[in-house]
Amino acid sequence: YRTLRVALLGAGAVGSQVADLLLKHGDELADRAGAKLELAGIAVRNLDSKRDVELPRELFTTDADTLIVGSDIVIELMGGIEPARTQVLHAIASGADVVTANKALLATHGSEVFEAADQVGAEVYYEAAAAGAIPIIRPLRDSLAGDRVVRIMGIVNGTTNYILDRMDTEGADFADVLAQAQALGYAEADPTADVEGYDAAQKAAILASLAFHTTVPLDAVHREGITSVDAAMIESARHAGYVIKLLAVCERLTAEDGSESISVRVYPALVDRTHPLASVHGANNAVFVQAEAAGDLMFYGAGAGGVQTASAVLGDVVSAARRHIAGGVGVGESTRANLPAVPIGHVITRY
Ligand code: HSE
Repeated sequence: YRTLRVALLGAGAVGSQVADLLLKHGDELADRAGAKLELAGIAVRNLDSKRDVELPRELFTTDADTLIVGSDIVIELMGGIEPARTQVLHAIASGADVVTANKALLATHGSEVFEAADQVGAEVYYEAAAAGAIPIIRPLRDSLAGDRVVRIMGIVNGTTNYILDRMDTEGADFADVLAQAQALGYAEADPTADVEGYDAAQKAAILASLAFHTTVPLDAVHREGITSVDAAMIESARHAGYVIKLLAVCERLTAEDGSESISVRVYPALVDRTHPLASVHGANNAVFVQAEAAGDLMFYGAGAGGVQTASAVLGDVVSAARRHIAGGVGVGESTRANLPAVPIGHVITRY
């Protein structure tokens, strides 16, 4: 096999698992990818930080710039906008394909990153950027490309689903369950991103952009978190036959004159207890997609967690390797329509 050089940026909950699986399953992945995937190094901020799994010390470096140069595939798992944005652009400019789980970066600078990639014929893979282990990016971009998606209702944040579920099923206290979600590695470094709905809003922008073949800017996403949800609200929802879930709702709207727009919103919603989304427990995620021809589809699984999300990252690495071996024929992000995104606020809808 030809050897492809893989650079990993970041060794947190997901990054350390990606490195571990790449090293453990290298031969099997080589067979699938048609190329040997050589982990050239792992760039981190602090060489002495404690990792979730033990990894060979000689792989670590603090010099991401040097590691990137000459790499065929750069996996960015640092999170946050900077220095992730600069390093992703550097990777693209150096001729690498990029695999990233960085929803914040894609939701705010996605156009810049995709355009930079298009210009040099590179590809950006981001299956892990929304709903953790669940394959949802490819289904929306590829499998449903021949259909018309009309609505997505997603539980796309594991931390808040874990909190709401424990509050609902055990009457647990908000602060206690948040601390547990952090200890289990579900929450973002700053859990405000989870509980205030920022993380879900970023994922909603990414999913809506794919589903509706447009670019939905993050500031067009209406966002409410779960900090105002208390035990009494959960109790009265239960009495009425509902469960409270933080939903990301992305809808195609058609006006009377036939013009179309998009509404994307994240908020605690009342979900009927008979709806499939009501049975999504713990840190799991689910994305319920309604398409004109396909009808209702539901994608379900682990929405957070290091090793689970690493599965989606490695799938992207194999795809990137196959593309390299095939001579760089990309799937492309081209042909985006320009549907306006209209923030229409919190619509009291019962699902
Ligand atoms: N903090 C995120 C969550 C991690 O809880 O869903 C996965 O993106």
